[in-house]
Amino acid sequence: MRITYHGHSTFVVEHDGHRVAIDPFLSGNPLAVAKPEDIEVEAILLTHAHADHVADVETIAQKNNATVVAVFELASWFGSKGLNVHPMHLGGSHVFPFGRVKYTLAFHGAGIETPDGIFYGGNPGGILLTMGDKTFYHAGDTALFGDMKLIGELNRIDVAALPIGDNFTMGPEDALIAAEWVRARKVIPIHYNTFDLIRQDPEAFVKGLAEKGIEGVALKPGETLEI
Ligand code: NI
Ligand code: MN
Repeated sequence: MRITYHGHSTFVVEHDGHRVAIDPFLSGNPLAVAKPEDIEVEAILLTHAHADHVADVETIAQKNNATVVAVFELASWFGSKGLNVHPMHLGGSHVFPFGRVKYTLAFHGAGIETPDGIFYGGNPGGILLTMGDKTFYHAGDTALFGDMKLIGELNRIDVAALPIGDNFTMGPEDALIAAEWVRARKVIPIHYNTFDLIRQDPEAFVKGLAEKGIEGVALKPGETLEI
């Protein structure tokens, strides 16, 4: 499994010729080095509807004829725009040609931001993505919650992407607890430094992980982790 970080909460994950994006937010992200036009994927997996997670869905989906995978309400929204969608919901899993997706809980908002106001976007989620024999847990935007222990107990997570930005999600202190609870072999900090309000030191977080015996990797936008 090759996991390329594109800043904020955006990833492209590939295995065995299959490639998917998670939460594409490149245009409008001052730290992104890739453009939406550069992203070639067969599916786009979404944790929730906020603009900093779905900004480039339409561009990438249309160019690649990619399937948008999201909770029912958000999938329906993109379906109404003519995109191919696959609706799912929390607790549900599905095996796609590229691998298995399971939606976990996340504690956050999920309103769809439109010029006419905020529309109901269902629940926010996290994503367990299994491709080949590796599992990547993308926590989405979330507070720390006790059932992360259950996620760690029930799954063998090779890499977890955990938000550390604070303000809108867990900050570094809670993310260190989350890292222990989900029992991931490697942890990638996400959702920080894109805006002033979520400024954090990812290397301090990685050091905090090391003190707990957990391997952290602070990927820079454009960098790839191969596991
Ligand atoms: Ni959000
Ligand atoms: Mn966000």
